[in-house]
Amino acid sequence: MGHVTDNAVIRSVVGAAQAATGVIGGALKLAELGAGGKTTARTSDTPSRNAYEETLRTLSEASAHGTRFEAFKDIAWDSPEFDVDGTTTEWKLPDIDPLAHTDWYRNLPAERRAEVARLRLAAITKCGSQFEQLLLLGGTQFLMGLKNGNPEFRYFMHELTEETHHIQMFQEFTNRACPEATGLRPWLKNVFPLVGMLGTLWPSFFFQIILAGEEPIDHVQKSILRSGGTNPLLDRIMQIHVAEEARHIGFAHAWLERHAPSRSALTRIATGLATPFLMTIGFWAIMVPSPKDVEAMGIPPEVFGEAYGWNSPLLSRLRADCAADVRALAIETSLLTPLTRPAWKLAGVDGRPSRYRSEPTRCVA
Ligand SMILES: [Fe+2]
Ligand SMILES: [Fe+2]
Repeated sequence: MGHVTDNAVIRSVVGAAQAATGVIGGALKLAELGAGGKTTARTSDTPSRNAYEETLRTLSEASAHGTRFEAFKDIAWDSPEFDVDGTTTEWKLPDIDPLAHTDWYRNLPAERRAEVARLRLAAITKCGSQFEQLLLLGGTQFLMGLKNGNPEFRYFMHELTEETHHIQMFQEFTNRACPEATGLRPWLKNVFPLVGMLGTLWPSFFFQIILAGEEPIDHVQKSILRSGGTNPLLDRIMQIHVAEEARHIGFAHAWLERHAPSRSALTRIATGLATPFLMTIGFWAIMVPSPKDVEAMGIPPEVFGEAYGWNSPLLSRLRADCAADVRALAIETSLLTPLTRPAWKLAGVDGRPSRYRSEPTRCVA
């Protein structure tokens, strides 16, 4: 383990921490700068224990003393600029959503188009809230398995504290924008308690699941903000989320890099085969609306197939783009190898790895 490598990991995740301390208006830019540092293993080997613990200390300090956001203190929910009735603000699907590119959506009367966009955005936000609840469920299980004095406890507890505010703002947005939105499919919610147990039983698998939920939401939110935003209230929520998520994703990457060497060869192969499918399930759960939400939006079956079917070119590209950072991490931690690559192809998440974390993609333009 070289000195250069140690410094690189600190710079990488510290950058993410600094991103989260930025002012809200520049949250996206700062998050990009912060998360943009190359991670250690992209340059060489595993971070040393000292470098890893220094990273955790820095992230914890940034969480405790940096700029923090609270759902009901830092969002002026009743401000006229955040009107959700559509009287003063517009509702439209962001370009990143394949449904926005269908003739069906384009040719809807303006009022119906706004209703579809409102429900769609609320459904994605509701999914985000539900995934964050899974993170709390498995996260507390993970913490119970840690020994006294392990610095992972303090940082991850800070992260869970921030997630409680993310859940509050996502849920409040759903309540106000479209309480009819249902979000995740019922069977997924039913398996959540089992997934939560992995926090103790198989943490490295649990952290891959965390990324399967966090990476697509983060990628989609950044893409929407980069392309000029959507509804003003949702833009504000996304800015807050992107800024704080830089720390969370930085920690998940650092944790997986740090603990990768302790995995047996068999575990690495099993995780390498499972990870692409976890990414696909996470992406599908968030980016493909549930049957109930499809019915509520009145999307005809052929339009659903065009926008969200397995062979939809826009959805396929978005799915692979959302996994770019995880692919890079999987290469670094020996999960993506010639042996496991067919699984990544089969799951539709193969492609080139990102050159640095949060590298912008062309996605759906
Ligand atoms: Fe979050
Ligand atoms: Fe998070």
